[in-house]
Amino acid sequence: MKYYLTTPIYYVNAAPHLGTAYSTFAADLIKRFKKMEGYDPVVLTTGSDEHSLKVERAATAAGVNPLAYTTKMAAEFISQWAKLGIDYDHFIRTSDPKHHETVRWLFERCQKNGYIYKGSYTGAYCVSDEAYVNDVAPGEPCPQCGRPTETVTEENYFFKLSAFQKPLLELYEKNPSFVKPDHRRNEMIAFVQQGLNDLSITRTSLQWGIPAPVEAHHIFYVWFDALISYMSAVKADDLWPADLHLIGKDILRFHAVYWPAFLMAAELPLPKQVFAHGWILHEDNKMSKSRGNVVRPGPIVDVVGADALRYFLLREITFGQDGSFSYDALIQRYNSDLANGLGNLASRTLTLIHQNRNGIIPDSPGAPEIAEAARRTTELTMDAFCDFNFSRGLETLWSFISVIDKFIVERAPWKLGKDSSSFAQKMLDETLYSAAEALRIVCAWVYPVMPNSARNIWIQLGMKTPIESITFADLHWGKLQAGQKIGSIAAVFPRLDASAIVKMENLEVQEKARQAELFGTAKPAVAAAAVDGASKISIDDFVKVDLRVGQVVSAERVKGADKLLHMKVDIGEEEPRTIVAGIAESYPPEEMMGRKVVIVANLQPRKLRGIESNGMIVAASLEGGKPVLAGFLEDVPVGAKLK
Ligand code: MSP
Repeated sequence: MKYYLTTPIYYVNAAPHLGTAYSTFAADLIKRFKKMEGYDPVVLTTGSDEHSLKVERAATAAGVNPLAYTTKMAAEFISQWAKLGIDYDHFIRTSDPKHHETVRWLFERCQKNGYIYKGSYTGAYCVSDEAYVNDVAPGEPCPQCGRPTETVTEENYFFKLSAFQKPLLELYEKNPSFVKPDHRRNEMIAFVQQGLNDLSITRTSLQWGIPAPVEAHHIFYVWFDALISYMSAVKADDLWPADLHLIGKDILRFHAVYWPAFLMAAELPLPKQVFAHGWILHEDNKMSKSRGNVVRPGPIVDVVGADALRYFLLREITFGQDGSFSYDALIQRYNSDLANGLGNLASRTLTLIHQNRNGIIPDSPGAPEIAEAARRTTELTMDAFCDFNFSRGLETLWSFISVIDKFIVERAPWKLGKDSSSFAQKMLDETLYSAAEALRIVCAWVYPVMPNSARNIWIQLGMKTPIESITFADLHWGKLQAGQKIGSIAAVFPRLDASAIVKMENLEVQEKARQAELFGTAKPAVAAAAVDGASKISIDDFVKVDLRVGQVVSAERVKGADKLLHMKVDIGEEEPRTIVAGIAESYPPEEMMGRKVVIVANLQPRKLRGIESNGMIVAASLEGGKPVLAGFLEDVPVGAKLK
């Protein structure tokens, strides 16, 4: 029986970080686990979401055409996934003509069934989430991500989402495992119960995207386009419907509401399950490119290996909930669970067999209490993995590792080896066989999570069948063959110290610079020079900059300049200052009214589009060129100086 699963397709305006790698790691794990369960074929699709407005903007900022940009970025994803050892079958790009064809085909099916109509839309749009936002006034922050929304008015094609309230509620009711975990399902039920607005699924203002098969210039809304990629990736292989869409919780609504509605409208089978995992947090926030708190997987893999990173993320964080990443926690867990836990069990067991039995697995049925513990471990781990509760499954396996460790210590094979009585020698055989057989079983279970390390130990145990081909039937106690010669022994997880963190941090700086270069967001040389010790400034230099708190009293767009806002800013002087700032793409004028900002008050005036600007607004400049205004958490009086 086939099993078809998907990761989300990733926006290519940023390289993979630990947050985006998380879905992909988990999907790779599930693929390997499902193979062990006996599904065949098990097919995993991933890919790149290339048509979003933010991608179009990122390409423009990098000064290249969108296709050239996305081709380069998709290649970066492919090379990162290879580095992380992801075993996917299809990488679908939404710029692929075969995908365009599927999108148009699905649209036409919905249209034929009466679920598409033409209408006009005015409202708020969140560029960051690529979603129309209901219930916010123009310019207000997006309720999902907190970033500014933009007002759009367009004549669009609409999808009659409102017609699917009842069918969706029935779907959640009849098929309780359609959305997992359960608390996410409840969220979706509550969302749909409030009523559904029809969804605008084309846009006229975009160029970069899939043209809709209609009379005028309409480009498909990116989410209509993106979701269908799950189908285009396998259209030729007869694999639809998907058995599992694995996603992060922030994109659940698109998968659990819009996607089944599109498919119902097109009279196509629905995916069997959508599982929403939580977020990887770093420095207390969701790790994301726009927050600037990302950690890249590449440098970690270079220092501790992909397996250790996968293990950490899947053991440390309950799948479905949020959890934090830190280098410290990674190294701690590596040393305690991998170097001291599994690694130690492997080297101890293999060395004892080498020393006492010339590297030959002894003939013994093993100790009944360990055989029973192994059976129970397999049962519990199976339950946990079937529920996608990987942390619980791994916890169970590591408890078993402790049981075997304790058993070895109690049996003291180093003493038994010195006692030539037949009782002692029989006990020694039993001890060594039990340890080796337990190690084989642990290894097989660990394989979906840490494929390379498991394979490594498997080969050291002298196993002849490839670990990739094992199934759960092979996990019964006693399958380890007596007389088997073990391979050469080598440490799998050498201990790490704090210098590993320094190495990862240094590599992270290099990787960040490499990616900034690649994505066309590298800062000019002068910015780089500022961090160089030679170009540090003294406090006397710093106090020359007059930074003040100001309040915007009026704001309007500068005609003919999309990016510029013309503002009057009160900084506690007799008259408000005139300031022209390049923030209009992120901050519409209405949003600036009354807002407190930080101003550089003693800059020489300069003319922008004929208007003399007397000061500069301070903002963080993020990758992609988007400004984020500096502000205060507490209230501060207008005119206050910053020092
Ligand atoms: N392109 C859309 C998905 C379309 S699927 C038809 C998208 N892309 S994304 O690149 O922004 O995010 C891809 C996935 O990464 C999402 O599932 C998202 O939840 C996940 N993550 C991004 N940051 C994350 C964390 N910090 N932690 C965990 N997952 C996170 O959305």
